[in-house]
Formats: sequence, structure tokens, C-alpha cells
Amino acid sequence: MNKIDNTTNVNESLHSFLASKEYTHIAILVDKNTLKHCYPLLKNLPEHDLMIIESGEDQKTISTCIDVWQGLTDNQFDRNGLMINLGGGVIGDLGGFCARTFKRGMDFINIPTTLLAQVDASIGGKLGVDFNGFKNHVGIFSEPDLVIIDTVFLKTLPKSELKSGFAEIIKHHLIADDKAWSKLLSTKWDAMNWPSLVKHSINIKKAVVKKDPNEKGLRKTLNFGHTLGHAIESHYLPSPSPLLHGEAIAIGMIGESYLSYKKMMITKEELDQITNYINSVYTKINIADSDLGVIMKNIRQDKKNKGNIILAALLNGIGTAVWDCQINDEDIAEALMYYNQT
Ligand SMILES: NC(=O)c1ccc[n+]([C@@H]2O[C@H](COP(=O)([O-])OP(=O)(O)OC[C@H]3O[C@@H](n4cnc5c(N)ncnc54)[C@H](O)[C@@H]3O)[C@@H](O)[C@H]2O)c1
Ligand SMILES: [Zn+2]
Repeated sequence: MNKIDNTTNVNESLHSFLASKEYTHIAILVDKNTLKHCYPLLKNLPEHDLMIIESGEDQKTISTCIDVWQGLTDNQFDRNGLMINLGGGVIGDLGGFCARTFKRGMDFINIPTTLLAQVDASIGGKLGVDFNGFKNHVGIFSEPDLVIIDTVFLKTLPKSELKSGFAEIIKHHLIADDKAWSKLLSTKWDAMNWPSLVKHSINIKKAVVKKDPNEKGLRKTLNFGHTLGHAIESHYLPSPSPLLHGEAIAIGMIGESYLSYKKMMITKEELDQITNYINSVYTKINIADSDLGVIMKNIRQDKKNKGNIILAALLNGIGTAVWDCQINDEDIAEALMYYNQT
């Protein structure tokens, strides 16, 4: 079990929210793992329908949405119902999308139970599902009615999942806080203060989203590592042992740090520092030359592109990021080659 202190008390927050509302029906959406590890931590729940889906990214599809919409229909939910999403980013993104589209929209609460969902997916209102192998291809922007973050859930999270979420924490440090980055570099894994890291990350993401909710400018800095990372993640999506989101983003951050260096926005020392740190946390993989074409094709589908121009967020010194940086096929090939050689 991970050693993690409590932050907010999930039961107190949930009960006080429910006491202030009058919902006709309540659904709690879980996957098989959060049913086992997280649902039992919710106490004195009002009457509700439990909706259970299989766990994993491959469930984040329209076909799972159909099951959820069917469940809501069978249980006679109307627009005054509430959906409580208890799980990681898959449950939050999919459950929120189902709730906001069912009968043109019912309320939903996110109770994120993975580190990734706590520091990233639950903030900023991006909802949706994957489509034909493309990540988050169909979706909407809509903020949850409430997000309850309690690090008690992280105790049962597999270490690989904790590391996956940690990639977003690294990202938040790199794009927004150079002092905290220096501190992070010297902190041993077992000495990580998760409640404090979670709060730090949430504050950074919230501040960015508040300044630019519609991702017209500053919010694009949160995509650091994600142009390459998403394309790599999509490429491995159908394989029997897919890369976790954060593992793909970690590779993306190394590649995009290389591009920041190539465009003379960070020094070689900074690039080495970032690369060595990320490689000390995540297992290296080798990206075969034969995978390059598919990864390029995936990058061309990126929602952040403008027409044929590929745009990425890059670092402009550690602790600052710039967005809408144009990159080309040669840059991408070089960045992946750099990663392979590290
Ligand atoms: N909306 C956004 O802004 C945003 C941002 C980042 C990522 N995402 C999305 O989030 C998804 C990834 O999220 P994720 O990493 O949380 O994946 P996930 O929801 O698949 O959860 C990871 C695994 O951990 C299990 N799990 C969850 N909580 C647990 C707990 N407390 N104890 C034990 N096991 C537990 C799940 O069952 C699953 O097997 C991706 O689909 C990604 O696109 C969305
Ligand atoms: Zn991410």
C-alpha cells in the first residue's frame, strides 16, 4: 500500500454537497477496480444505482457510453439526476460525457481515484471518449458540478499507475515552477509528499485553466509532452500491453524538451537534467523505425494542429512554456531518435 495522508475527507464533502441538492436519482459509475478498492470507502450513501464497467482505456468508447445511457434509461433517470464518477480518468471523462449528453445534460460529480485523474483529468472540463484508435477524438468541454479530491484512494493504486500520474506532476513543474522542479529533482521516490504534490499540481492547472478556459493560448502549455506523447499512446493503444498515458507523456516530454533545446529555448544541461530525471523514473522503451510512420500519422490527427501545420507547446527555460510552436516531420523524427539514444 502506498503511504499517503488524507487531504479532503471524501465522505464529508459528498454528504454536504448532497444535503444542498434534491436529486431524483443518483448513479455511481465505477469500474471493476474502483468497485473493489474505492466504493467501500464511501459511507452512508443515499439510495443509488451502481453502474459497473470493465476497467481500462479500451473501455473509453461510444459503445460503453451506450451501456451507460441504456442504464440511465432503464432506471428512469431524468435531467434532475446525478452521476457520481468514482474512478480514474477513464471513468471521469466517459462518465462526465455520458451525464452531460443524457437528455441534454444532467449533473455529475468527479471523485478521482488515480493520481492522474486527481492532478489532471478532473480539472478543466475536458470530457469524451476515444474513437477508432484516436485518443479523446469525440468530446466536449464542460466542468463537473463538484470535484472531490481525497488522496486516501491512492493507497491502493498500483505503483505503475502512480507513476503514470506523476508524469503530469513533472509536466506542471517544468512548465510553471522552476524552484519546485529543483526540489523535486532531489526528492527520493519514497519520500514524496503526495498530498502536497497533488495540491501544488492542482493549483497550477487551475490557475492556467482559469486564465484561458477555452484553450486559446496559455492553456496550450498544459499540452507540453502531449503532441508526441498522445501520438505514441495512440500507436500503442491496440497492443496487448499498452503504454499508460503518463508513460507515453514521459517520452513525449523528453522528445519535446529536445525540440525546446533544438530551438535554443533550453540549454543542453537543462535537457540532460530533464532526460536523466524522467529516465530514472520510467522504464525505457525502444521506438522502432517502422513505428515512425504511424506516429507521424497520429500527430497529423492532433486536435491542436491548424490545418497542415503541427503545433506543440515547448519549454522556454525550465518553469516557463510557450505554445503554438511549429514543428515539422524532421523535428519529430529527430526527437524520437534522441529519445531512443538516451
Ligand atoms: N480530461 C482531461 O483533461 C484528461 C487529462 C489527462 C488524462 N485524461 C484521460 O485520463 C485517462 C487516464 O486516466 P487514468 O490513468 O486515471 O486511467 P484509468 O481510469 O484507466 O485508471 C487506471 C487504472 O487504475 C485503476 N484504479 C483507479 N483507481 C484505483 C484505486 N484507487 N486503487 C486501485 N486501482 C485503481 C483503474 O481501474 C484502472 O485499471 C485517459 O483516458 C486520458 O485520456 C483526461
Ligand atoms: Zn496528460
